[in-house]
Amino acid sequence: MELQTLCVHGGINENDPTGAVEMPIYQTAMFRHHDIGEGGYDYSRQQNPTREKLEQLMAKLEHGREAIAFSSGMAAITCLMELFQPGDHLLATDDLYGGSIRLFRGVGEKNGLSFDFLDTSDLGMLAAKIRPETKAVFIETPTNPMMQVTDLRGAAKICREHNLLLFVDNTFLTPYLQNPLDLGADVVIHSGTKFLSGHNDTLAGFLVANDPKIMERLRYFYMSTGACLAPFDSWLLLRGIKTLGIRMERQQQNALALAQWLKRQSWVSRVLYVGLPEHPGYAVNADQSRGAGAMISFEVDSSTTALRLLRNVQLILFAESLGGTETLLTYPMTQTHADLPKEEREARGINDRLLRISVGLEDVNDLENDLLQAEKA
Ligand SMILES: Cc1ncc(COP(=O)(O)O)c(C=O)c1O
Repeated sequence: MELQTLCVHGGINENDPTGAVEMPIYQTAMFRHHDIGEGGYDYSRQQNPTREKLEQLMAKLEHGREAIAFSSGMAAITCLMELFQPGDHLLATDDLYGGSIRLFRGVGEKNGLSFDFLDTSDLGMLAAKIRPETKAVFIETPTNPMMQVTDLRGAAKICREHNLLLFVDNTFLTPYLQNPLDLGADVVIHSGTKFLSGHNDTLAGFLVANDPKIMERLRYFYMSTGACLAPFDSWLLLRGIKTLGIRMERQQQNALALAQWLKRQSWVSRVLYVGLPEHPGYAVNADQSRGAGAMISFEVDSSTTALRLLRNVQLILFAESLGGTETLLTYPMTQTHADLPKEEREARGINDRLLRISVGLEDVNDLENDLLQAEKA
C-alpha cells in the first residue's frame, strides 16, 4: 500500500460489530473479565484499543515491528533512557531539541549516565568519541534549529561495528519523508505533538523498533512508569495522521517557496533549509529521505530586526513548537534552547539573530506579506 493510502486507511476500524468506520474512543480505565485467566485488555495504562490501533499504524508507517504511544515526546525519550545503567555513556547530536539536552543533562546525568554532544554529521568525529562504556548514539537529522544532516547509513555502520544502539528522532521529517529503521536505526523516536498530530492541539510521543527484545523491555518500562497516551489523544493522532501525507507535501512546498523568498530579502543574512541545493546536507538528506520537510531557520541582519519580526507578525504566530497547520515563528534563543548555557548556544549559532519557522498550510503569499509588513513595522 502506498504511504498516502496507509495514512488514510491505516486507522480504520475493520471489525467493529456496529460497522463504525472510525476507531471508537475507548474512554475507559479498565476492562471487565468473565473468568479467571481470561486474556484481552486489563487496564488502559497497559493497553487500550484506541491506542493500540494508533500504535499499529505507527509501526506500519515507520516500517517497525511495534510502536508504543506516549503522553509526549519527552515521555518517550525518558522511557528510552531506562534501557541504560549507571555508568553507561551515550553520544548525541549537539544540536538536538533543547528539551532532549535538558533531559540528558538534568535527569540522565543525575541517574548516573554520561553524555557527549557532538556534530554527528562528522562521522569521523562520531567514531572517535566512542569509549568502552558507550552504549548508544542519539541523532536528530535534520537538527533543531541548525538543520545539520547526519548520514544515517554511515552512523548505523559505525554503531554496528561497535555494538551500539542507534536512536533517531524523526520528528522533523516524519515517516512520510524518512524511515530511519530502514537505514539501520534501532529505535525511532517521535514527538507526535508535531506533524503527526498536525493541528497544534495535542501532545504525544512514540518509540518504534524492530527488535522484539528491545520492544519487550521498553513495554515493561512503559507499563511500569505510566506515561501512556490517553484514548482521546490517541484518537486525535489517528485523525491527524489521515492527512499527514497531504499536509507534508503542501507544507514542504510552502517551505521551499518561503526559503527561496527569504534568500532574496536584504534583511536576511542566512537561510538554513535542507531543500536548498546549497545546503551542506542537501545531498545526504536527498539520498536518505523523500523530502526536506517544512522547517526553516534563518538569520537576520540584527537582533533588532529579529525582535521586530517576532513582535509584529500577525498571521504567523510567535510560538514554540512546530509541525501544525498554522505557521509558527520561534526564537530558539529564548524558547526551545533557553536552557542551554549562553556560550554553548552561541557557539552552535543559536544567537539573537536566529529565527526558526515551522511552515504551515496557509497560502505562501500571505506568509511572505506578513513577514514583509512585520519587518517594516
Ligand atoms: C525534535 C523534537 N523531539 C522531541 C520533542 C519533545 O516532544 P514533546 O514536546 O511532545 O514532549 C520536540 C519538541 O519540540 C522536538 O522538537
